[in-house]
Amino acid sequence: FPGASEWVPATGGVKKLTAALASCQGCDLYQYAGQAVPGEGPASARMVLVGEQPGDVEDHEGRTFVGPAGRLLDKALAEAGIERSEVYLTNAVKHFRFERQGKRRIHKTPAVGQIVACKPWLVSELEIVKPSLVVILGAVAARALLGTGFKVTVRRGEPVELPDGTAAMATVHPSSVVRSREYRRDFELFVRDLRTAVSLLP
Ligand code: URA
Ligand code: SF4
Repeated sequence: FPGASEWVPATGGVKKLTAALASCQGCDLYQYAGQAVPGEGPASARMVLVGEQPGDVEDHEGRTFVGPAGRLLDKALAEAGIERSEVYLTNAVKHFRFERQGKRRIHKTPAVGQIVACKPWLVSELEIVKPSLVVILGAVAARALLGTGFKVTVRRGEPVELPDGTAAMATVHPSSVVRSREYRRDFELFVRDLRTAVSLLP
């Protein structure tokens, strides 16, 4: 894949970035998905949360974290005392990757090549927002920002640093909590990590 670089504006803010995202052809995913889903939130946010990719609902609505994982994230953010409107929410990959099963579109984890191709959008968002803390939601976001060696399940809730020195912390993806057989426990652990994130803010 050529990667997103040639579509990412060299200057400008979140609005300009969002406008440019709509025409990205940095990997194959734009051909199948409904639309690219941009990050959302104030450019002044102190915390950026990075998910995996839009889901089916996000792909239809064009907004991030508005489906089942988003509802769970909203609930967990509220419990952790974090205002959704005060954080910047985005994804490692901006187009929905899926497999067709009859009429249904089933989420498929993005390939490494797609994660790498889409990274320039995320890098640009982080350069614009300059957060004090990046919260990494799940293995795909961790792969994008910390590389292959990092295991979210082992290191969740720990303070870590991105290669550029930005403070970060990883936790699980909210959809893993949605699907959990031990929902109560896993929801509480997720909220605990989000509280840790708040405590890591300077
Ligand atoms: N899962 C994500 O990682 N991001 C979304 O926007 C929705 C579901
Ligand atoms: Fe561009 Fe990312 Fe969409 Fe691929 S997934 S086409 S790199 S926006």
